[in-house]
Amino acid sequence: MTVRGQFPFTVIGHRGCAGVEPENTLRGVHRAIDMGCPMVEIDVHVLDGRLIVIHDGKVDRTTDGRGVLEKFKLEELRKLDAGLGEKIPYLEEVLEMCAGKCQLNIELKGKGSAEAVVEVLERWGPVHVVISSFEWDWLETVRKLDEVLDISVLVSKAYLLDAAILQAKKLRAVSVNPSLKILSEAFCDKVHAQDMLVYTYTVKEQKHLKHAQACGADGCFADFPDAVLKELR
Ligand code: G3P
Ligand code: MG
Repeated sequence: MTVRGQFPFTVIGHRGCAGVEPENTLRGVHRAIDMGCPMVEIDVHVLDGRLIVIHDGKVDRTTDGRGVLEKFKLEELRKLDAGLGEKIPYLEEVLEMCAGKCQLNIELKGKGSAEAVVEVLERWGPVHVVISSFEWDWLETVRKLDEVLDISVLVSKAYLLDAAILQAKKLRAVSVNPSLKILSEAFCDKVHAQDMLVYTYTVKEQKHLKHAQACGADGCFADFPDAVLKELR
């Protein structure tokens, strides 16, 4: 059976809701849930064996600290201000916040995060989770360790689009998630023909949403999910 343009269009809070609240913070995730996002996306790295929620391998852009993650002890990192007094969260804190409220997209950013995420999820309760990454071999690790976890394949380069569909099929992924810059109707058709969905990133303006919808995407990652949800109503 071929999936065609899922309804309703899925609005995914990007890094929580990065345009509205400090990115990848509990405050941002909470706000995205309050806005009515059915799914929220965060990025994870591993430090001292714990999964921490942060996009970059350095703290400079998103906190009041300086330097690469590895130079920090976990307790020092947790003292940093990630915006409006927020701490860099642990994955478990986000899982707790999302449980029973929304689906959580965990994007693997740091080395070792595939194994660490699967281990945390084995101990965790019933949160609907999807694991994504640009590092496809890490997604293969996830699939080897867990037969049933939902997986999404991220792709940012046009020349990798067909390979991303093949990889997603091999991994039994639920979706292929391309950058808006390389999204097309033909690509959405190809993914749908393989019974998978297309979630595109990152919608920041109305014209981005129009493009995503015109191409037939099933949803988008949004920095301002409230504006997108309002537009869709
Ligand atoms: O998963 C969509 C998006 O989060 C991928 O790009 O750099 O924002 O993590 P980035
Ligand atoms: Mg991300």
